[in-house]
Amino acid sequence: MKIFRLTLLAAALSPLALSSALAQNTGKIKVGLMLPYTGTFAALGNAIENGFRLHVMEHGGKLEGREVEFVKVDDESDPAKATDNVNKLIKRDNVDVLIGTVHSGVAMAMAKVAKDTGTLLIVPNAGADAVTGPMCAPNIFRSSFSNWQPGYASGEVVAKKGHKKVVTITWKYAAGDESVRGFKEAFEKSGGKVVKELSLPFPNVEFQALLTDIAATKPDAVYTFFAGGGAVKFVKDYAAAGLKKTIPLYGSGFLTDGTLDAQGADAEGLETVLHYADSLNTKRDNEFRLSYAKTFKLQPDVYAVQGYDAAQMLAVGLKGVKGDLSKKAEFAAAVEAAKIDSPRGPFTISKAHNPVQDMYLRKVVGKENTLVGIASKGLTDPARGCKM
Ligand code: BEZ
Repeated sequence: MKIFRLTLLAAALSPLALSSALAQNTGKIKVGLMLPYTGTFAALGNAIENGFRLHVMEHGGKLEGREVEFVKVDDESDPAKATDNVNKLIKRDNVDVLIGTVHSGVAMAMAKVAKDTGTLLIVPNAGADAVTGPMCAPNIFRSSFSNWQPGYASGEVVAKKGHKKVVTITWKYAAGDESVRGFKEAFEKSGGKVVKELSLPFPNVEFQALLTDIAATKPDAVYTFFAGGGAVKFVKDYAAAGLKKTIPLYGSGFLTDGTLDAQGADAEGLETVLHYADSLNTKRDNEFRLSYAKTFKLQPDVYAVQGYDAAQMLAVGLKGVKGDLSKKAEFAAAVEAAKIDSPRGPFTISKAHNPVQDMYLRKVVGKENTLVGIASKGLTDPARGCKM
């Protein structure tokens, strides 16, 4: 049967076209990694790449039987350079798939180009709500979260703790704005009030004046979104200003993920909400953590998990199209039907292509974000504005 189909295919195609069609399905797959390798999010980009590579290594250097070739671009978390960077990967390097990125502003530029060109894109971190909202497309997927998800789940947690008056503080860009919006939606629905929204431009870390404002406002609690190098500095400055002892600090879990070595005692006891924790203690997560630690001599974090799962999603899609990435509808159908066996716990992909996943409440104990419990079970992003 297989020979018959191949004979028919051979009759229909010239020898050159036939060999290139076969090569498309069986040859190397070119993966374009567009991630930050410098700046405040550099460690996040490296962890995502490590996670992605780990999945490939665990499968003999292949994804669904195809060898993988990587092309890398440092996007510097700079939205102004994003369109040029992504066009280089697509037009100069001819990548088959784009994996990127960390920063929401850069990811929105990537999503626009991916949508316009039909290039397959898997976002392994950036939470920009628009990517799986108004910009959603059959060829765009996310292995991480929407900014709304940890924000909304945090709002429910902080309300349940009995806090009534909250000040928020974050970077003024899509991720910060959307995280705070999600928080506010849930917190105010439960009767709380966000009394002040403080922000500073990304990636500034001059927090002093804002911390003075928080001390003067005397809220019941503070909610924050910071990540990477900025999160390290914020947690240290919050403690140094004497606020940690008087005003409880909450955050989406990026505040303390991949940062605990640098934050030390200043992070101890902080409670945050995220789709991963260091002590899930499941067989799947323990195996992943051991494999990651052995390979990279580092402890994994949420970013490593998201990179690993981006590779898993690509493998699932490739399997569904038998290696032929031109079959976009079939690729999407395979990913939409899958249950991804993630170290964070199994998750599915929504119609808008965002993970439907549990949100965990975690507490910093020593060098770990230990699991306190499930803050929100199977939380689905509302995908506002997605028409697909
Ligand atoms: C973002 O820009 O979407 C983002 C950056 C770092 C951590 C989480 C989200």
